[in-house]
Parts: sequence; structure tokens; C-alpha cells
Amino acid sequence: MSEYSAPTQFIDLAAQQKLIRPQLDLAISRVLDHGQYIMGPEVKEFEGQLREFTGAKHALTCANGTDALTLVLMAWGIGQGDAVFVPSFTYVATAEAPAQLGATPFFVDVCEDTFNIDPQSFKQAIIDSRELGLKPAAVIAVDLFGQPADVDGITEIAHAEGIKVLVDGAQSFGGSSKGRKVGCMGDATTTSFFPAKPLGCYGDGGAVFTSSEEDKELINSIRLHGKGSEKYDNVRIGLNSRLDTIQAAILIEKLKVFPNELEARGDLAKAYAKNLADSDICLPTVEAGNVSAWAQFTVKTPFRADVMHALKAVGIPTAIYYPKPLHLQGGYSHYPVVSSGITNSENLSETVFSLPMHPYVVDADLHAKNIAKALRETSPN
Ligand SMILES: Cc1ncc(COP(=O)(O)O)c(C=O)c1O
Repeated sequence: MSEYSAPTQFIDLAAQQKLIRPQLDLAISRVLDHGQYIMGPEVKEFEGQLREFTGAKHALTCANGTDALTLVLMAWGIGQGDAVFVPSFTYVATAEAPAQLGATPFFVDVCEDTFNIDPQSFKQAIIDSRELGLKPAAVIAVDLFGQPADVDGITEIAHAEGIKVLVDGAQSFGGSSKGRKVGCMGDATTTSFFPAKPLGCYGDGGAVFTSSEEDKELINSIRLHGKGSEKYDNVRIGLNSRLDTIQAAILIEKLKVFPNELEARGDLAKAYAKNLADSDICLPTVEAGNVSAWAQFTVKTPFRADVMHALKAVGIPTAIYYPKPLHLQGGYSHYPVVSSGITNSENLSETVFSLPMHPYVVDADLHAKNIAKALRETSPN
């Protein structure tokens, strides 16, 4: 290693586990003792805590963040002939959920500064979809890298056209916009508890948030094989999509340290903003009124390969989210794209990379200074 500080992990799950290991061991032991591995008491308890944390009226856990999207779309009756508008610059699950249901993911561009869905591009895509004979049915606004999307802007356009708004908050749990926590925006919100997410379990997990009583009932039925009033009464086609009791028990313990972790993520983001302000890389923009959960700290530079290489040389790991927009992916390139173009998504996939982001960086300021120094040494200017 060089004169720089001890190597920082890109995401450090081990540091968090070390901090709360005794509580986790006890929580898992309690589940082993009572033996209710499926829909046990911890699942209900955690759902109550999710409601309390977010302020959402209903919170239903499920097997993962992809199923969470699918559950909502199924409850809304989305299928063949329906256009579901999705940003092209996102994780594949956002488009996978509507595609799996036989609906058409319709690709929309994102804003180049926030990385989130562009309301103007969405507006154009609605017109385009009708010309293709599709019914504009739903839009999935992704809170990319932790920052809430412009849900108000999207909702205004969507509701005027009878389109439902689903917020994909897989990366933004813990964030907020204009005082509303993620979970309280759109017609429904989903999240993921994949281990690397801001609130992650030790396996797969997800949740749906809604204020609609009707959607809550439907989603509860769908996640339990389309269950009716009795266990072996199947009133609709559903899924097997439940959060394991052991994962709920783990999440209950992790939620206790989550507020501190969110603060530490925010402090690291501030340290990056302060120390990298004069560098050649372009820093992420957080819109006024938004609080990001900082799932990732994603920067832009036309010299991405060189910069990532220089950081690697001084022990700083980086990663690219996402190297290819969805409309160019083999499995998705046959789906329609907004007629005004998807240039921001294409440009971003060639220029973005993410710096280490987790709550357990030992000295955020020193770490950010080390990165600034390495960047100065590679600067072409
Ligand atoms: C934006 C987005 N949507 C959906 C998902 C799907 O979540 P999961 O991996 O829990 O299925 C992810 C996570 O990987 C994601 O980042």
C-alpha cells in the first residue's frame, strides 16, 4: 500500500455485523426456539416497525424487492397490452417485473444531474405508447442511488392520464422528500432488503408500502399464493413471496442502528462534497427538499477508466452502476423507447462510477482527502 490510510471497503457489511453480532445471535436463536420460520411473529413485528419508521399506512414484507414490484403490478391488474414506463438507467428488476407479467416496459430517459426519471421524457412516452396501440397503465419512478425521484412531477402527469405511480425505493429506504419518508409517496412504494442496500438483511427480502386498503388486501393475498379467507382457499393466481422469519428477526436488530447509519452515510457524502468540490469529477446533485439514503455516491467523469485505475492503485475500490442502460440490454432491446431519445441514460452509463459508501468508514474526512489527493495526481489539467 501507499502512504494512504488503511484500505476502505466499497461496502463493509462485516463492520456492522461485528457491532451488533450478540443481538443478531440472540434474535436468530429466538426464531430457532419458537420454530415459526414462515410468517412468524417477527414478520408482523417488523412490518409494524416499518409503518412506524416510514409513516406509511400499510407495510407488507415479501421475498425480495423484485417481487415487491411484481406484487403491486399484479394487484393493479397490469398485463398484456399495458405500457409500464420505466427509466432505462436503473437496475434490471425495474423492467423485469412488468415484462414478466406480459406488459410492455416502455423506456424513458433520466435527468443527467439527479439520475432519476425525467418527467418530460415520461410525458412524451405516454403519447408514443398510444401510437403503438398500448394502454399507458403505470410508471415506475426509481429513487436511484438513494435520492427520491420527482414523484410530484411524475404524479401530476400520470394521474391526469389515469396512470398509476409506483415508486421503486429499493435503493432509497431511509430517504425523504419534502418531509415525506420513502414509503409514503406515489400510489405504492417498494423496497429491497438485499444485503448491500441501506437497510439489508442476510439474504433476500423486500417490502411494499401503500395507503390503499384495497391494495393492501390484494397484495397480502397475492404474496400468499392468492389466498382467500382460509389457507386452502385460493381465490386468485398469486406468488410464494414471504419474508423469512429469520430475516425479519435480523432486520429488527438492524433497524435499531439504522438511524445512526443513515447519519454516517450522510456525513460521508458531506465529506466527499467538501473535499472533492475542486476536483475534475462531477459530484451528485441532491434536489432541494430531498434527503438521500446514499445507497451509492455516484460521480461522473469523461476519464472514468483512468480515474478508477488511479484510485485502485491507492487502495480505493470503485464500481460502475450501471455500465449499460436497459434499452441496450439483450433481453430488453426489443421493447419500445421514447421517441425523444435516451441520450442521458446512454451518456451516464459511459461516465458514472461510484465511490465507497457505507456507515463504517473510520475517518470520512481523511478518506475523502485521500481520494482528492489521488484525483489531483491523475488530473489531466
Ligand atoms: C432499483 C432497484 N429495483 C429493484 C431491485 C430489486 O431488488 P431485489 O434484489 O431485492 O430483488 C433492486 C436491487 O437490487 C434495485 O436496485
